[in-house]
Amino acid sequence: MDTISCIILAAGAGKRMGGDLPKAITQTREKALIDHLLDAVAPLNPAKTIVVAGHKQELLKSHLTSSPSAKGHRIEVAIQDQQLGTGHAVKCALTALGDFKGTVLITYADHPLFTTETLNLFLSYHSFKKATVTMLSFKAPPPNGYGKVLRDTKGGVIRITEAKDCNPEEALISEVNSGFYAVDSAFLKPAIESLSNNNAQGEYYLTDIVEKASKEGQTVAAFPLSDATEAAGVNNPLELALVNEVLAQRQVHRLQSEGVIFVDPKSCFLDAHVSIAPGARIGPNVQLRGTTSIAASAVIEGTAIIKNSTIGKGAIIKLGSHVEDASVGEETSVGPFAHVRPGSKLGAHCRVGNFVETKNATLNDGAKASHLTYLGDCVVGKDTNIGAGTITCNYDGYKKATTTIGEGVFIGSNSALVAPLTIGNGALVAAGSVITRDVPSDALALGRAKQENKEQWAKRRREGIK
Ligand code: UD1
Ligand code: CA
Repeated sequence: MDTISCIILAAGAGKRMGGDLPKAITQTREKALIDHLLDAVAPLNPAKTIVVAGHKQELLKSHLTSSPSAKGHRIEVAIQDQQLGTGHAVKCALTALGDFKGTVLITYADHPLFTTETLNLFLSYHSFKKATVTMLSFKAPPPNGYGKVLRDTKGGVIRITEAKDCNPEEALISEVNSGFYAVDSAFLKPAIESLSNNNAQGEYYLTDIVEKASKEGQTVAAFPLSDATEAAGVNNPLELALVNEVLAQRQVHRLQSEGVIFVDPKSCFLDAHVSIAPGARIGPNVQLRGTTSIAASAVIEGTAIIKNSTIGKGAIIKLGSHVEDASVGEETSVGPFAHVRPGSKLGAHCRVGNFVETKNATLNDGAKASHLTYLGDCVVGKDTNIGAGTITCNYDGYKKATTTIGEGVFIGSNSALVAPLTIGNGALVAAGSVITRDVPSDALALGRAKQENKEQWAKRRREGIK
């Protein structure tokens, strides 16, 4: 295959998008529109990538200097001050193209779904056909706003007619132009110089180079896409939403093909930058947001929200749990119905059970709080057990204070631990205690009213003898 250079047309304002940004930097759920294209083209190793900028060009230029997608390219920005049409935009790129010899891949920045595989096949087809111009076409039922591909009786491509210039018969043609072309550099320059704007829109149409090539007797080919979804363009918020749906579906399909199990993928919502290792299992109704990462063999049972969090190997997040800005260690179990709030660091083999809330809490390996507990602004030592109903009283109405609990501690049920407080290793807090002073290591702390038993009292009351 020839060496290629790539021209990306990105000068348009995209007024129908509803904003005033260059359309090329409109964000999809993953990245800017133009970044999708840059990522798809990068593996083809273009000698030059010329981006034609126009409307608010400074914004597009600064995007190209910071975007990771631009890194794999030798980018040159060409300026088109007035948007006089796609043909004129390519004319503006010719100086930057210089004396490049080979195949020029011309693309439109508002088409984010093309894959490297498809572009590669397209370029192979162009080279196999020894064509001067090859276009990527696809089937779209009329009526639609795309340029129509006109073929002669032998099936040869003769020209593209824009929707606005079609006669009623041409308007019925269902093979349309995707806007991607492979063009021999020797043909491109003179063809672009010869374009006129004598058409319905008074624009210089790039598509007219197809007719020029066919009239000159050059080989013109059209590579029909089998999957028209890839050709989707973004001209308005509705089309952007459709593209986002496809991107979300691709993400799930990619994860499934890598070995992630989704019990009911349609009911799950994944942000674009979530990572899930093969062997993890995601139940129904799960939202994975932000930069969440899920390790191998972790299980998210279902109906959970996990945001900007790390879930370790073999961990299990049970039904109805909410985890945010937190880390959950290996083999740790959370829920059902647990609330793991920002700053929570749960070690390995921990247990945070039903109706337990943690906030800015570090639980070291093997620590357990199995039921009905609030752990805020605290450190819990290794293998410590927090009984049901325990509360760290971390707030006095003015400021927060910390509770530090050592290793192998046993906190009896329904205890109130009034911070600031330190409980030493191996200590035991009796159930129902209110602990306001530090507890030394290995001590028993009792912080409750002493029990009194009155013999036969209940019986006498029952029998009415007071
Ligand atoms: C174009 C094609 C049409 C094809 C369709 C596919 C032409 C004449 N028509 O129509 O056959 O079916 O794409 O989506 O090419 N741009 C510039 N400078 C300009 C004009 C456009 O850089 O002066 C850029 C735009 O930013 C955009 C791309 O070129 O990224 C396509 O322009 P647009 O106006 O969207 O073309 P369509 O009317 O959709
Ligand atoms: Ca368009």
